[in-house]
Amino acid sequence: MRTPIIAGNWKMNMTAAQAVEFVREIRRGLNNVQGVDAVICPPAIAIPGVFDALSATKIGVGAQNMHYEEKGAFTGELAPNMITPFCKYVILGHSERRAYFGETDEGVNKKIKAALAHGLTPMVCVGESLEQNEAGETQSFVGGQVKAAFAGLTAEQAAQCVIAYEPIWAIGTGKSASAALAGSIIGLTVRGSIADMFGEATAQKVRIQYGGSVNEDNIAEYMSHPDIDGALVGGAALKPSFVQLVERAK
Ligand code: 13P
Repeated sequence: MRTPIIAGNWKMNMTAAQAVEFVREIRRGLNNVQGVDAVICPPAIAIPGVFDALSATKIGVGAQNMHYEEKGAFTGELAPNMITPFCKYVILGHSERRAYFGETDEGVNKKIKAALAHGLTPMVCVGESLEQNEAGETQSFVGGQVKAAFAGLTAEQAAQCVIAYEPIWAIGTGKSASAALAGSIIGLTVRGSIADMFGEATAQKVRIQYGGSVNEDNIAEYMSHPDIDGALVGGAALKPSFVQLVERAK
Protein backbone atom coordinates (compact mmCIF):
# COMPACT_ATOMS: atom_id res chain seq x y z
CA MET A 1 0.00 0.00 0.00
CA ARG A 2 2.83 2.42 0.91
CA THR A 3 5.45 2.50 -1.85
CA PRO A 4 8.93 2.02 -0.34
CA ILE A 5 11.17 5.07 -0.58
CA ILE A 6 14.95 4.96 -0.42
CA ALA A 7 16.76 8.29 -0.34
CA GLY A 8 20.49 8.86 -0.51
CA ASN A 9 21.59 11.79 1.63
CA TRP A 10 25.03 12.59 0.30
CA LYS A 11 25.67 15.22 2.98
CA MET A 12 28.80 17.31 2.15
CA ASN A 13 30.32 14.83 -0.29
CA MET A 14 31.12 15.05 -4.02
CA THR A 15 31.80 18.09 -6.16
CA ALA A 16 29.28 19.00 -8.84
CA ALA A 17 31.40 17.21 -11.46
CA GLN A 18 31.84 14.07 -9.32
CA ALA A 19 28.11 14.03 -8.59
CA VAL A 20 27.19 13.99 -12.28
CA GLU A 21 29.77 11.31 -13.04
CA PHE A 22 28.45 9.12 -10.22
CA VAL A 23 24.76 9.42 -11.09
CA ARG A 24 25.56 8.60 -14.72
CA GLU A 25 27.14 5.40 -13.43
CA ILE A 26 24.19 4.31 -11.31
CA ARG A 27 21.16 5.79 -13.09
CA ARG A 28 20.40 2.87 -15.39
CA GLY A 29 20.50 0.33 -12.57
CA LEU A 30 18.46 2.52 -10.25
CA ASN A 31 15.89 3.31 -12.88
CA ASN A 32 15.36 -0.39 -13.58
CA VAL A 33 14.14 -1.04 -10.04
CA GLN A 34 10.35 -1.26 -10.03
CA GLY A 35 8.12 -0.57 -7.08
CA VAL A 36 10.57 1.54 -5.06
CA ASP A 37 10.90 5.33 -5.13
CA ALA A 38 14.60 6.19 -5.32
CA VAL A 39 15.75 9.70 -4.43
CA ILE A 40 19.18 11.34 -4.59
CA CYS A 41 19.94 14.32 -2.35
CA PRO A 42 23.26 15.83 -3.44
CA PRO A 43 24.91 19.00 -2.12
CA ALA A 44 23.03 22.11 -3.33
CA ILE A 45 25.64 23.11 -5.93
CA ALA A 46 25.29 19.70 -7.60
CA ILE A 47 21.48 19.71 -7.75
CA PRO A 48 21.05 21.17 -11.28
CA GLY A 49 23.65 18.84 -12.79
CA VAL A 50 22.20 15.78 -11.08
CA PHE A 51 18.70 16.83 -12.15
CA ASP A 52 19.84 17.03 -15.79
CA ALA A 53 21.63 13.69 -15.61
CA LEU A 54 18.47 12.06 -14.21
CA SER A 55 15.97 13.85 -16.43
CA ALA A 56 15.12 10.78 -18.53
CA THR A 57 14.63 8.59 -15.43
CA LYS A 58 12.05 8.28 -12.67
CA ILE A 59 14.72 8.84 -9.98
CA GLY A 60 13.80 11.77 -7.73
CA VAL A 61 16.08 14.62 -6.68
CA GLY A 62 15.98 16.18 -3.24
CA ALA A 63 17.67 19.05 -1.43
CA GLN A 64 19.30 18.54 1.97
CA ASN A 65 17.83 21.70 3.45
CA MET A 66 16.06 24.94 2.55
CA HIS A 67 14.90 28.17 4.18
CA TYR A 68 11.24 28.81 4.92
CA GLU A 69 11.23 32.42 3.71
CA GLU A 70 10.50 33.29 0.09
CA LYS A 71 13.57 35.53 -0.30
CA GLY A 72 15.62 38.09 1.56
CA ALA A 73 18.74 38.77 3.60
CA PHE A 74 19.59 35.19 4.61
CA THR A 75 23.20 34.75 3.52
CA GLY A 76 24.02 31.27 2.35
CA GLU A 77 20.43 29.99 2.28
CA LEU A 78 18.19 28.71 -0.51
CA ALA A 79 14.51 29.66 -0.84
CA PRO A 80 11.86 27.06 -1.74
CA ASN A 81 11.37 28.38 -5.29
CA MET A 82 15.11 28.09 -5.93
CA ILE A 83 14.99 24.32 -5.50
CA THR A 84 11.54 23.51 -6.93
CA PRO A 85 12.68 23.58 -10.60
CA PHE A 86 14.94 20.61 -9.79
CA CYS A 87 13.68 18.93 -6.64
CA LYS A 88 10.60 16.98 -5.71
CA TYR A 89 11.86 16.34 -2.18
CA VAL A 90 13.63 18.21 0.61
CA ILE A 91 15.23 16.78 3.74
CA LEU A 92 14.25 18.90 6.74
CA GLY A 93 15.48 18.85 10.32
CA HIS A 94 18.33 16.38 9.87
CA SER A 95 20.05 15.77 13.20
CA GLU A 96 23.28 17.25 11.82
CA ARG A 97 21.43 20.48 11.00
CA ARG A 98 19.88 20.48 14.45
CA ALA A 99 23.22 19.76 16.18
CA TYR A 100 25.64 21.92 14.16
CA PHE A 101 23.47 24.68 12.71
CA GLY A 102 21.04 25.40 15.50
CA GLU A 103 17.86 24.15 13.84
CA THR A 104 14.89 24.06 16.17
CA ASP A 105 11.58 22.20 16.17
CA GLU A 106 9.90 25.54 15.48
CA GLY A 107 12.07 26.24 12.45
CA VAL A 108 11.55 22.73 11.13
CA ASN A 109 7.79 23.24 11.44
CA LYS A 110 8.00 26.45 9.39
CA LYS A 111 10.12 24.71 6.76
CA ILE A 112 7.65 21.84 6.43
CA LYS A 113 4.81 24.29 5.86
CA ALA A 114 6.84 26.23 3.28
CA ALA A 115 7.87 23.02 1.48
CA LEU A 116 4.27 21.82 1.26
CA ALA A 117 3.11 25.24 0.05
CA HIS A 118 5.61 24.90 -2.81
CA GLY A 119 4.58 21.35 -3.71
CA LEU A 120 7.71 19.73 -2.29
CA THR A 121 7.63 16.48 -0.34
CA PRO A 122 9.36 17.05 3.00
CA MET A 123 11.47 14.23 4.43
CA VAL A 124 11.27 15.16 8.09
CA CYS A 125 14.05 13.79 10.31
CA VAL A 126 13.62 12.88 13.97
CA GLY A 127 15.73 10.84 16.36
CA GLU A 128 17.19 10.67 19.83
CA SER A 129 20.78 10.96 21.07
CA LEU A 130 22.67 8.16 22.80
CA GLU A 131 22.18 9.89 26.17
CA GLN A 132 18.43 10.17 25.64
CA ASN A 133 18.31 6.58 24.49
CA GLU A 134 20.17 5.33 27.53
CA ALA A 135 18.02 7.43 29.85
CA GLY A 136 14.87 5.80 28.43
CA GLU A 137 13.68 9.05 26.88
CA THR A 138 13.38 7.87 23.28
CA GLN A 139 9.60 7.71 23.16
CA SER A 140 8.94 11.05 24.79
CA PHE A 141 11.67 12.89 22.88
CA VAL A 142 10.94 11.48 19.43
CA GLY A 143 7.18 11.78 19.97
CA GLY A 144 7.73 15.42 20.96
CA GLN A 145 9.79 16.07 17.83
CA VAL A 146 7.06 14.62 15.61
CA LYS A 147 4.32 16.62 17.32
CA ALA A 148 6.32 19.87 17.09
CA ALA A 149 7.22 19.28 13.44
CA PHE A 150 3.63 18.53 12.37
CA ALA A 151 1.87 21.17 14.49
CA GLY A 152 -0.73 23.13 12.53
CA LEU A 153 -0.75 20.87 9.48
CA THR A 154 -3.92 19.39 8.04
CA ALA A 155 -4.28 15.61 7.87
CA GLU A 156 -3.96 15.85 4.09
CA GLN A 157 -0.67 17.71 4.38
CA ALA A 158 0.66 15.30 6.98
CA ALA A 159 -0.11 12.35 4.71
CA GLN A 160 2.09 13.86 1.98
CA CYS A 161 5.16 13.95 4.19
CA VAL A 162 7.86 11.35 4.57
CA ILE A 163 9.41 10.94 8.03
CA ALA A 164 12.87 9.55 8.69
CA TYR A 165 13.54 8.08 12.12
CA GLU A 166 17.29 8.32 12.57
CA PRO A 167 18.64 7.54 16.04
CA ILE A 168 21.68 9.84 16.29
CA TRP A 169 23.79 7.08 17.84
CA ALA A 170 23.34 4.99 14.68
CA ILE A 171 24.34 7.67 12.15
CA GLY A 172 27.73 7.08 10.55
CA THR A 173 28.76 4.79 13.38
CA GLY A 174 28.17 1.39 11.79
CA LYS A 175 26.07 0.72 14.92
CA SER A 176 22.64 0.32 13.38
CA ALA A 177 19.48 -0.13 15.43
CA SER A 178 18.01 -3.60 15.04
CA ALA A 179 15.09 -3.82 12.65
CA ALA A 180 12.86 -4.89 15.55
CA LEU A 181 13.84 -1.89 17.67
CA ALA A 182 13.68 0.63 14.82
CA GLY A 183 10.37 -0.83 13.66
CA SER A 184 8.81 -0.65 17.07
CA ILE A 185 9.82 2.99 17.60
CA ILE A 186 8.62 3.85 14.11
CA GLY A 187 5.31 2.05 14.67
CA LEU A 188 4.53 3.00 18.25
CA THR A 189 6.17 6.40 18.60
CA VAL A 190 6.45 7.97 15.15
CA ARG A 191 3.33 6.57 13.46
CA GLY A 192 1.60 6.61 16.84
CA SER A 193 2.20 10.35 17.23
CA ILE A 194 0.82 11.00 13.74
CA ALA A 195 -2.22 8.89 14.67
CA ASP A 196 -2.72 10.92 17.88
CA MET A 197 -2.65 14.15 15.89
CA PHE A 198 -4.44 13.25 12.66
CA GLY A 199 -6.08 9.86 13.15
CA GLU A 200 -5.15 6.30 12.28
CA ALA A 201 -6.12 6.54 8.59
CA THR A 202 -3.65 9.37 8.04
CA ALA A 203 -0.96 7.58 10.04
CA GLN A 204 -1.32 4.56 7.76
CA LYS A 205 -0.62 6.74 4.72
CA VAL A 206 2.61 8.36 5.95
CA ARG A 207 5.80 6.75 4.73
CA ILE A 208 8.36 6.37 7.49
CA GLN A 209 12.00 5.55 6.83
CA TYR A 210 14.69 4.25 9.11
CA GLY A 211 18.13 5.88 8.89
CA GLY A 212 21.47 5.10 10.50
CA SER A 213 24.15 2.80 9.07
CA VAL A 214 21.81 1.26 6.49
CA ASN A 215 23.65 -0.64 3.76
CA GLU A 216 23.01 -3.18 1.02
CA ASP A 217 23.48 -6.04 3.49
CA ASN A 218 20.98 -4.95 6.15
CA ILE A 219 18.27 -3.16 4.10
CA ALA A 220 16.19 -6.29 3.51
CA GLU A 221 15.90 -6.88 7.24
CA TYR A 222 14.60 -3.35 7.83
CA MET A 223 12.16 -3.62 4.95
CA SER A 224 10.76 -6.85 6.36
CA HIS A 225 9.32 -4.89 9.28
CA PRO A 226 5.77 -3.83 8.38
CA ASP A 227 6.17 -0.32 9.81
CA ILE A 228 9.42 0.53 7.97
CA ASP A 229 8.73 1.97 4.54
CA GLY A 230 12.25 2.70 3.37
CA ALA A 231 15.54 4.22 4.41
CA LEU A 232 17.46 7.46 4.49
CA VAL A 233 20.97 6.38 3.60
CA GLY A 234 24.20 8.29 4.18
CA GLY A 235 27.55 6.63 3.51
CA ALA A 236 26.17 3.65 1.57
CA ALA A 237 24.52 6.03 -0.92
CA LEU A 238 27.93 7.22 -2.12
CA LYS A 239 28.91 3.87 -3.61
CA PRO A 240 27.74 2.04 -6.77
CA SER A 241 26.29 -0.65 -4.48
CA PHE A 242 23.50 1.86 -3.71
CA VAL A 243 21.79 0.22 -6.69
CA GLN A 244 21.76 -3.16 -4.90
CA LEU A 245 20.54 -1.47 -1.76
CA VAL A 246 17.54 -0.03 -3.63
CA GLU A 247 16.92 -3.37 -5.39
CA ARG A 248 16.77 -5.13 -2.04
CA ALA A 249 14.22 -2.66 -0.68
CA LYS A 250 11.36 -4.23 -2.62
P1 13P B 1 24.71 6.82 7.57
O1 13P B 1 23.90 5.95 6.64
O2 13P B 1 26.06 7.19 7.00
O3 13P B 1 24.77 6.28 8.96
O4 13P B 1 23.93 8.23 7.66
C1 13P B 1 22.57 8.21 7.99
C2 13P B 1 22.02 9.57 7.78
O5 13P B 1 22.25 10.47 8.55
C3 13P B 1 21.18 9.78 6.58
O6 13P B 1 20.53 11.00 6.66
